[in-house]
Amino acid sequence: MIHIVILISGSGSNMAAIVRAAQQEQWEARYHARIALVLSNRPDAKGLDFAREHGIPTDVIDHRAFPSREAFDAVLAQRIAPFDADGHRALVVLAGFMRILSAWFVDRFAQRLLNIHPSLLPAFPGLHTHQRAIEAGCKFAGATVHLVTAELDHGPILEQAVVPILSGDTAETLAARVLSQEHLIYPRAIVRLLQSLGNL
Ligand code: GAR
Repeated sequence: MIHIVILISGSGSNMAAIVRAAQQEQWEARYHARIALVLSNRPDAKGLDFAREHGIPTDVIDHRAFPSREAFDAVLAQRIAPFDADGHRALVVLAGFMRILSAWFVDRFAQRLLNIHPSLLPAFPGLHTHQRAIEAGCKFAGATVHLVTAELDHGPILEQAVVPILSGDTAETLAARVLSQEHLIYPRAIVRLLQSLGNL
């Protein structure tokens, strides 16, 4: 079984889209993959409610309780470990998880650690992507699903979606247009990865 562990920090709309796709497309029967855990670094992340309502186990590791990134990441790895044992493999899906992960953590889950970023990478890594795209005069924006590597917002691209930037767009209107596309490409990227992981 592939245990999908989804890490969130906020509203969790990408996580919800993944959960819905997994149910509708019967990932468990088709790909032997189950959404095993939704974990947040923020106790008040709204996405936790959605996960609980859908019967998905949840966990919280409040990053404010840790003195360093290393210490937080060590506990994060510990909490994921049971899902990556006894012949099961964890697929770690970052869905609005607003933390940078230690290089050793990225190494541990290499090839099965995914992120979605709200820009057309390699353009606009980092924060405030929509405002930066508008200020740069871009005509198009979008989102990227990629494998996570040690370099922030880099790594092999699995899926992208493009949307127009319209005159009068604000960061908020553009973010909403991009987000609706994120909800389509993230489940699609995961399915493709599950198909390629089939032999694990
Ligand atoms: C999404 O737009 C996602 O691409 C972005 O945060 C939002 C989370 O929304 N992620 C990043 O900026 C990561 N650097 P959600 O919680 O509703 O899925």
